[in-house]
Formats: sequence, C-alpha cells, structure tokens
Amino acid sequence: MKAVKLKENIYWVGGIDWDIRSFHGYLTPRGTTYNAYLIIDDKITLVDTVKHYLYDEMLSRIADVIDPSRIDYVVSNHVEMDHSGSLPRIMEVAPQAKIITSPNGEKGLKAHYQGDWDYTVVKSGDTLNLGSRSLSFVQTPMVHWPDNMVTYLAEEKILFSNDAFGQHIASPERFDDQISLGVLLEEAGKYYANIVFPYGSQVQKALETVSTLDIEIIAPSHGIIWRSNIPAILQEYVKWSANETENKVVVVYDTMWGSTEKIARTIGSAFEAKGVSTRIMNLQVSDISDVMPEVLTAKYVCVGSSTLNNNMLPKVSAFLTYMKGLAPKNRIGLAFGSYGWGGQSVGQVEEVLKGAGFELMEQVRLQYIPSQEQLTEVVKKIQEVLE
Ligand code: FEO
Repeated sequence: MKAVKLKENIYWVGGIDWDIRSFHGYLTPRGTTYNAYLIIDDKITLVDTVKHYLYDEMLSRIADVIDPSRIDYVVSNHVEMDHSGSLPRIMEVAPQAKIITSPNGEKGLKAHYQGDWDYTVVKSGDTLNLGSRSLSFVQTPMVHWPDNMVTYLAEEKILFSNDAFGQHIASPERFDDQISLGVLLEEAGKYYANIVFPYGSQVQKALETVSTLDIEIIAPSHGIIWRSNIPAILQEYVKWSANETENKVVVVYDTMWGSTEKIARTIGSAFEAKGVSTRIMNLQVSDISDVMPEVLTAKYVCVGSSTLNNNMLPKVSAFLTYMKGLAPKNRIGLAFGSYGWGGQSVGQVEEVLKGAGFELMEQVRLQYIPSQEQLTEVVKKIQEVLE
C-alpha cells in the first residue's frame, strides 16, 4: 500500500477502517482512519501507530518509503489503543527505536503493554533533533486522556495534533481541499461533541499554544488532514470549547403511546414560532451520538419521557447519562412528558438536567392524552419565557 506525501520526506502511513460503525458506542457511519506519520531525516520517526488490526496496512505503507526496521523514534502522542495498538509489533520490527512520550504516556504504555522498551519522556517545551529538523512537544492533558500531547515540526510548520481536530471519516482522500468542507466540519463537530466536549477548558489551553505556532498543516490522528481550511476548524474549536451556543433548541424524547411525542412537537413549534432553530429527535430512531452534535450548538435542550414503572424510559435515561458525562455548559433545559398515574419521569429528567448544571424552564407534565387547551397553554408559557 502507498504512503501519502504531506511534504518532502514526510508521509501519512496510517490505516483506513472502512467497516467500523461504532466507536465505543459512537456511531461512525463513514468509518474512520487511524493516522500515523513518517518523518525521514537523519533519524527516522514514526508519529503514532494504528489500531491493532490495521498493523499490516501501516507496515506496508511505511515499507513503501523505507525499511521499517530503520525507525529510530516512535512518538506516542496518546496511549489509547486506537493509536498505540500497533506499537508492540512495530517495536518487534525496530527494537532499537526509542519511544518518545509524555510522563503519563510512559505510565500508560507500561500499564497497557509491559514492553521492555527504551523510553524518552518529554514535557512541554522539550525538543528532539532529527538531523535537519527537530520536533517539539506540548502536553495537552485531557484532550483526550491525561497522557495526551501534540508534536510540532517547526521547519515544516506541521502540527501532529493527535485526537484534537480529528473526524471519523474513512476515505481515499487525505486532505481537506479534496472533500466537502461541509461534511468535514459536520464530522469534526460530531467528533468534538462525542469525544472532546467535556474538556473545553483544556482545549482552550491547547488553542492558546496552537495560536503561538506557525502552522501550515494540522495532521490529526483521525480522518482528514487540514491544510487549506485551518482557520475554519480553529474557529469552530474556539466556539465549541467556549460552550458558545446558537439560538437553537433540540427537543429529545421517547414516547409510549404518542402523548409525549405530541408535547415534544408542541414545544418544538412554540420555539420555532419565536424564530428559534428547532430540531426534534425521537430516541427510538435517533442515536444518542447523533443527538450530541445538536446539543453542541443548542442553547435550549428539552428532554421528554413518558413514565414507565415509576421511571423514565430507558432510552431517555441512557441519553441523559451520556449527555451528563459530556458536560455541556451554559444551556437551558426543559423537562416534559405524559403519564398515566405515577408520573415520576418528568421530575427525574428535571433532576438530571439540574444536576448537569442546566438552567431550567418550567416543566411540562400532562396526564394521559394532552388536550388542545393544555397544549395551547404549553405554547403560551414557553413563548412568554422567550419574549
Ligand atoms: Fe483516538 Fe483518544 O483516541
């Protein structure tokens, strides 16, 4: 298989995961890639590896350029196994190679693989001379694990950003000017919403560092490489990491007999009539990982559930657990639902929204099938708040 040239003597040598449709629960309809990069200089460096089952593909791309046994350095920007899974096998091919990683990277790799390898531990500001060029390192803890760092090749103005700025896209194209920017930003947003969302303040620190670097290429560890639309993705990261929202509502619900759905649509139409961009998402057909990109930019999040056996419906519970973990901030929530007798679900939804730090609008809790008069009242109350 072929390596793809980024610049003279710098290549993409990653693996394309055409078939993956669930990345630990995050649906990836377009598949993904695990990006590894090869830098040829006096010293030969591999930046990150690929998921274990794509090792042969990575090796054949490396072998397209050099004999893989000549690798001197393997930079491990991130321990997570989608990037380190092929490390043990590459170390069998190049046992003399030094592993360059952060302090937490060393701990994590030892805990994962127990390999008897030669580590060089680097911290922010450290550099590694490769001959005519040198790498520098910036620790970016929690973007996405405590060990994360990014690697910068100043002479070529390339930032190897690992998980940051990634997207789950499997494609024959490698660069952002070869595919639709709309698709790229949509997938980058889905990736941010499902992976990076909880770490906004850490992303902002990383963005501060990035802003001091002269960058022509951002080479992430998933998906497409940025070279023509860097300002566009940086601008999105600035907004997302600051929890900046739009005048938008996402109404998320599950329903037993259609009454909670009626309330959902009524709430949606109340917002829509006030000029709020409205998304209505039924959890029976929408996956929670597809709801989160909508939450990423929505000022209002309305969550509805019927009551089943004194509880909210399981899909709503799963969504709330997932969303709470991803920790959106500065949102306004509204709990709603229909019930027959107990009616506990709406209060339960509201408790979770409150616990997640949402400001709350007045809940909507209606028995059995809501009447037209009740729905009109719902619209009126919401619109009073939106005045
Ligand atoms: Fe793509 Fe956090 O690993």
